Amino acid sequence: MDSAPELDPELLDKVTNLAKRRGFIFPSAEIYGGFRSTYDYGPLGVNMLRNVKNAWWRSMVQLRNDVVGLDAAILGPPAVWAASGHLETFTDPLVDCLKCKERWREDKIDGVCPNCGSTKFTSPRAFNLMFKTQAGPVEGEGSVAYLRPETAQGMFTNFANVLSTTRKKPPFGIAQVGKSFRNEITPQNFVFRTREFEQMEMEYFVPPAEAEEWYRHWIETRFAWWVDLGIPPELLRRHEHAKEDLSHYSRGTTDVEFYYPWGWDELEGIANRGDYDLTQHAKFSGVTLDYFDPTTNERYTPYVIEPAAGATRGMLAFLLAAYHEDVVEGETRAVLRLDWRLAPYQIAVLPLSKKPELEGVSKDVLAALQPHFMCDYDVTQSIGKRYRRQDEIGTPYCVTVDFESLNDHSVTVRDRDTTTQVRVPIANLTHHFWESTAPS
Ligand code: GAP
Repeated sequence: MDSAPELDPELLDKVTNLAKRRGFIFPSAEIYGGFRSTYDYGPLGVNMLRNVKNAWWRSMVQLRNDVVGLDAAILGPPAVWAASGHLETFTDPLVDCLKCKERWREDKIDGVCPNCGSTKFTSPRAFNLMFKTQAGPVEGEGSVAYLRPETAQGMFTNFANVLSTTRKKPPFGIAQVGKSFRNEITPQNFVFRTREFEQMEMEYFVPPAEAEEWYRHWIETRFAWWVDLGIPPELLRRHEHAKEDLSHYSRGTTDVEFYYPWGWDELEGIANRGDYDLTQHAKFSGVTLDYFDPTTNERYTPYVIEPAAGATRGMLAFLLAAYHEDVVEGETRAVLRLDWRLAPYQIAVLPLSKKPELEGVSKDVLAALQPHFMCDYDVTQSIGKRYRRQDEIGTPYCVTVDFESLNDHSVTVRDRDTTTQVRVPIANLTHHFWESTAPS
């Protein structure tokens, strides 16, 4: 679908401000003037980012018996990146504006300098996006190391280890969540494109004859994952890359695109990498990386289908899709309609007043809920203000403890989206929330 609903023209600013003001995402090293290309995840953001990654892990590893996990090193030797092709081809076209001297990624500026409007640039040159560093105390060629620009290569270099330790056979996958680093020429649009970010990638090894079928399967499975977690389908589309735009390793790539405030752009890429990676690593390392099928007596190099998503970019998409303004009791409120699995807090416990007897019961309620749910506790200001604060950070349920609670041993549970309230006995509260939030 190419058309998308009208977005609030200030949506990105509103979400960026909310993220900073409420403690989701802070610009890094802000007290030193900021660092533009990296961000820090605050008390709410760290919960939400963790929830995004956990939701991915749950669907990609926990609920499947054909995918196992991995946590590989971030720092690696040049040999890995020579084999993967990154040393040679992981580049973007860099141009300098001849007037203001700013540097830009040529394919992102439509021939006009975003800084000064000039249309005169140097010829583009290939700029390698990998961060190069040195491992150990001795400088020189032998100590060069790179920060990984994708998590994927760890899955290929460990292919034989995983095969021999898990006795999995194709089709099977290796999944990993972790940091990647790219020296992006123009980091931009908040956490959409940063130099340090987190990825959620899975390499699915399949018999070559099944590659096309699995490629289509993973496009649909991944599309459905974003929808299941609350992104409206009209804000998502599939974009299949033209042959001439494919990466050096790809036989086919389809992006799941999201409708950001600046238009359609990538959220996740699903690629058919063929046998490129295993063949390259086998060639460069001298180690055989293939699969012997004892049932057919056939030896072959599996093809790889790779769904590769951004965790930090994904969190931005979830925030943008969840941000709404509506009118409640004559007042405009900002509300994050986050799925309960992603919200930084699932429940807020709110004593109606600071009176010790109410605080006592409220602390007991909190202690009963905390082992099961991420909870906030807030006693300051009016109950109305506290509801608005929780709405704005996406807390799906507020539990209000009032004076009646001392007599009827019940509390009021308020729903963020409908603002309806129900009375629930304290003894049933955990069960009540298990029922309302039962995982699908
Ligand atoms: N292993 C394949 C691979 O890394 P990619 O399309 O370059 O493919 C996968 O990256 C996903 O990682 C992207 O769809 C995006 O969500 C995220 N990503 C890539 N570069 C990023 C950056 N500079 N900042 C934030 N997220 C990024």
